[in-house]
Amino acid sequence: MSNEKNVLFTIFGGTGDLAQRKLYPSLFRLYKKGNLGKHFAVIGTARRPWSDEHYREVVISTIQSLNPSDEEAKEFASHFYYQSHDVNDSTHYATLKELADQLDERYQLDGNRIYYLAMAPQFFGTIVAHLKSQKIVTENGYNRLIIEKPFGSDYQSAYDLNEKIRQVFPEPDIFRIDHYLGKEMIQNISAIRFANNIFESQWNNRYIDNIQITFGEALGVEDRGGYYDHSGALKDMVQNHILQVVALLAMEPPVAFSEKEIRAEKIKALKAVRIYDQQEVLENFVRGQYDQGQLDGKMFKSYREEDKVDPASTTETFVAGKFTIDNFRWSGVPFYVRTGKRLTEKGTRINIVFKQVPVNVFKTSVDEPCEDTTLPPNVLTIYIQPTEGFSLSLNGKEVGQGFNTEPIKLEYRNSSEMVENSPEAYEKLLLDALKGDGTNFSHWEEVAQSWHIVDVIRQAWDQTKPDFPNYKAGTMGPEAAFKLLEKDGFEWIWQPDEWYRERGKL
Ligand SMILES: NC(=O)c1ccc[n+]([C@@H]2O[C@H](COP(=O)([O-])OP(=O)(O)OC[C@H]3O[C@@H](n4cnc5c(N)ncnc54)[C@H](OP(=O)(O)O)[C@@H]3O)[C@@H](O)[C@H]2O)c1
Repeated sequence: MSNEKNVLFTIFGGTGDLAQRKLYPSLFRLYKKGNLGKHFAVIGTARRPWSDEHYREVVISTIQSLNPSDEEAKEFASHFYYQSHDVNDSTHYATLKELADQLDERYQLDGNRIYYLAMAPQFFGTIVAHLKSQKIVTENGYNRLIIEKPFGSDYQSAYDLNEKIRQVFPEPDIFRIDHYLGKEMIQNISAIRFANNIFESQWNNRYIDNIQITFGEALGVEDRGGYYDHSGALKDMVQNHILQVVALLAMEPPVAFSEKEIRAEKIKALKAVRIYDQQEVLENFVRGQYDQGQLDGKMFKSYREEDKVDPASTTETFVAGKFTIDNFRWSGVPFYVRTGKRLTEKGTRINIVFKQVPVNVFKTSVDEPCEDTTLPPNVLTIYIQPTEGFSLSLNGKEVGQGFNTEPIKLEYRNSSEMVENSPEAYEKLLLDALKGDGTNFSHWEEVAQSWHIVDVIRQAWDQTKPDFPNYKAGTMGPEAAFKLLEKDGFEWIWQPDEWYRERGKL
């Protein structure tokens, strides 16, 4: 019987950044753990005229931080082959097929193939069409496609791309990467919810006031200006990563923890996210772009001064918004989301803000009105990165005489050793693809619904010229992002800028 781990990987974009920083180290980790054995081979392709020897040297250099022995590194790299190839040139696919068939025989790969498109999205359609027309896809084994984001730039382009891909690969063989879905604490959302009755029993609009999701980056656009200036934070972060997290938080408990059941619940949750009209977009979503700024003595340039960015760019580097979910569980509970570049700190976290107790009884006499009638809310925080863990803030009694309450935080963080040794997102996702398990990838229906939700926001914004830049580098975004919650009587739970401001560093 064919072993699913006997496989030929063909990596398009084999000389690129993603391949070198993520894919080769992840393949090495899988190899070290025995998930890839003797029967695997990798073809790296790109236009550069590299030799196999040079390619193997590059692969070895990318795994140095994993401390392989010389022998181990050489043995691993001996499975790698390089084929210079321009994906737009039909004749090049013949050599690729020849090499693939040779390696299939040499390594006894049973016709199993995984094609990884680590390239700019405009090439996806061409590559996939050629895989079929040039008969690179096999008849005897499995053929799976791993595809990087972005999947389209709006619903229509995503639909067109999907139609092209579906001609060659059926949906279960398409693995659309959202690398956040491979992260430990994103996967932990389901454990926290469904393995703890104290949370799942309260996971609804009777007990939860609001939910806040922050994907903050301290970096600017770095060398991705050319790509980013045509994308912006809405398409780069909200359409994929953030809406995936919304779906995981909002979905109903699946009847089993299987790909099919989880997917069905996530799709239902996304379908319940309200598609706003233009006026609702302007009321519920704000955008920003960073200006020059300084934090902790460091100076930062503005977005418009970044390399490969239009000096008059109207691309947003920040988005904050409120999603409304129209179903029994979530009616009336805002899901606030926020993401941006050049914010005060890098951090991805989720705050579940619980409702107040019905009455604050901490007053000394029934006749006396209580001075401060609100207590700090209970907040469950899930830390996704850079630290991983969760905390729960409660109210306890302040030690001493009298009866004052004070907030107490119960905290759990994975140790840095644990974080370091746990599988990297790409490693987990590659292993999932090897097993044919699509749970942690985005299904077409999820992608389609996410574009429907985001397209209307983009269209509403495109009607008006934004007043950019509107937040200083090193802060947590424009004033409007704070007002968004204030007008509902809430505030962002995570405000790292406060800490710097109090110490005169911002
Ligand atoms: N880098 C990341 O961390 C990251 C994270 C998330 C998603 N992604 C996504 O992953 C994909 C790849 O990103 P990347 O950062 O690795 O890009 P990159 O460093 O620019 O790599 C692009 C690759 O495509 C090859 N290439 C370009 N034109 C080609 C052609 N006509 N025929 C054959 N090969 C060609 C390049 O090699 P030659 O110049 O030698 O042809 C290179 O290997 C993109 O879709 C990106 O959005 C990347």
